[in-house]
Amino acid sequence: MYRTKTCGELRLSDVGQKVTLAGWVQRSRKMGGMTFVDLRDRYGITQLVFNQENNSGLWEKANKLGREYVIQVTGMVTERSNKNQNIPTGEIEIEVSDLIQLNSSDIPPFTIEDETDGGDDLRMQYRYLDLRRPSVRKNLELRHKMAFEVRRYLDEQHFIEVETPVLMKSTPEGARDFIVPSRMNPGEFYALPQSPQLFKQLLMVSGFDRYFQIVKCFRDEDLRADRQPEFTQIDCEMSFVEQEDVLNMFEGMAKHLFRYIKNIDFTEPFPRMTWADAMKYYGSDKPDIRFDMKFVEIKDLTVGHNFVVFDSTPYVAGICAEGCASYTRKQLDELTEYVKRPQVGAKGLVYVRCEENGMFKSSVDKFYSQDDLKVWAERFGAKPGDLILILAGDKIKTQKALCELRLEMGNRLGLRDKNIFAPLWVIDFPLFEWDEETQRFYAMHHPFTSPKPEDIGMLESNPGEVRANAYDMVINGVELGGGSIRIHDSVLQDRMFRVLGFTEEQAQYQFGFLMNAFKYGAPPHGGLAFGLDRFVSMFAGLDSIRDCIAFPKNNSGRDVMNGAPSIIDNKQLEELHLKLDLKDLGK
Ligand code: AMO
Repeated sequence: MYRTKTCGELRLSDVGQKVTLAGWVQRSRKMGGMTFVDLRDRYGITQLVFNQENNSGLWEKANKLGREYVIQVTGMVTERSNKNQNIPTGEIEIEVSDLIQLNSSDIPPFTIEDETDGGDDLRMQYRYLDLRRPSVRKNLELRHKMAFEVRRYLDEQHFIEVETPVLMKSTPEGARDFIVPSRMNPGEFYALPQSPQLFKQLLMVSGFDRYFQIVKCFRDEDLRADRQPEFTQIDCEMSFVEQEDVLNMFEGMAKHLFRYIKNIDFTEPFPRMTWADAMKYYGSDKPDIRFDMKFVEIKDLTVGHNFVVFDSTPYVAGICAEGCASYTRKQLDELTEYVKRPQVGAKGLVYVRCEENGMFKSSVDKFYSQDDLKVWAERFGAKPGDLILILAGDKIKTQKALCELRLEMGNRLGLRDKNIFAPLWVIDFPLFEWDEETQRFYAMHHPFTSPKPEDIGMLESNPGEVRANAYDMVINGVELGGGSIRIHDSVLQDRMFRVLGFTEEQAQYQFGFLMNAFKYGAPPHGGLAFGLDRFVSMFAGLDSIRDCIAFPKNNSGRDVMNGAPSIIDNKQLEELHLKLDLKDLGK
């Protein structure tokens, strides 16, 4: 037996036991005739002691151990005189009587401890070593536990997990597909699924009325902290359901995870907000409602005072930052710089300080009297001591910028505590979104999302106003999941495709298999998918989903450890009947 115990389990109550442990040498310290070695495995760290007086041969052997050597030791559990209260095994140590070196190690490129000296790139290049660090390992353990609890909950609710293909047909709506050439069918290509959307709908036609799958999805899109080219969904679909049934089922799943993983009980239903309200009050379809600071529109109060910026723009709105009237000139300048950044995109920032004496100081008090500013303050519900921050411009852009400013103020005021969770359903999304560049409507969610029955009449006449039976679960400003009730009627689906600009042939070519299936008794159905990576990183309090993925890609979509993507040799290309034309790239 390589080991009788792990490095994380021995306590004072085990003193006097003879044990065998195996693991990696995290570090060793030589103090006179005593050498202490921290032995690490997946479960923790145990201190080993080698005493020259007791066994000088063994002590010398211990002194030759390098960092990350793999060893097996046998010895007696003893009480430590110098206890370490910071680790669970800190009250004991092992007086080693036998040491076997199982393997040596090159000197690792960075220290394998929570506080490492390794930069991001180096850690990613040696990710297998990075994963030895307890802080990283914990994220994967949490991920496992969450996936396990998801399966437990869904199994109890009679969902069954069904695997769907990874090599599928390209359906270029949504993000860009990753493409795989087919050797057996020269000139033809598979796509990797952006999600199993069509398959899960087919499974509903097949009668699997409660499906789920923890599944890899692939999207060739620009990467960000919460986006990876391959990521994992908890993908779900149900038959014979309305929106309310789906929301209840998956609110239940989220509550289950909070209860069993975070020990937090949400006894009240999650609040719901329409998409229109989310945009109006937060400028975002994923508002962070851990704090208030809702948008207040004041265009009507500002016109006719010769302030050109407000007079000439369609939208003037702001937020009220409680207790911030004391912001200095420098802090206000910083905020102005902040909103002017290209990522935020505002042209400038107007402020109104609500002074303790009931007076107002503003960057626009040349144009507006104390009485005018008082009316503004009333609309904002601002009290003496508060600071009103106002942006103006084109509606959509300004809402976006004000959203960023609100989040920034939330950060500055410490209102975005990672240990507080504020879940929310955003409902009633628009069915379509208009794309200026291509001058056409796109499905906001996907083309199978059903319109609200009361809005179907506007499908052709006023598509932009049609609301969908679509919903997102948002927690702390992060879209954790989203879904919809689907169209199960082929006549309505046809109308939808037409509004989206598909000819009958195009619709048939791309989605014919689904349309055909729908001719054979498709039940009413709907579902949603959660991003598992986002859920885990939220529970772990991480800034990037990368940290809860064992082998993630960097921001250029590269795996710096194994070198993917890489060039392939000509023989492979020939087999696939592919020729590269890289002239434009100068290669
Ligand atoms: P959607 O496209 O909204 O819906 O995706 C569902 C959830 O998946 C997560 N997600 C991502 N996570 C990491 N990296 C990415 N690149 C990425 N893209 C999406 C998000 C998101 O909420 N088939 C539909 C669901 C349905 O209608 O049932 C779908 O894929 O957390």
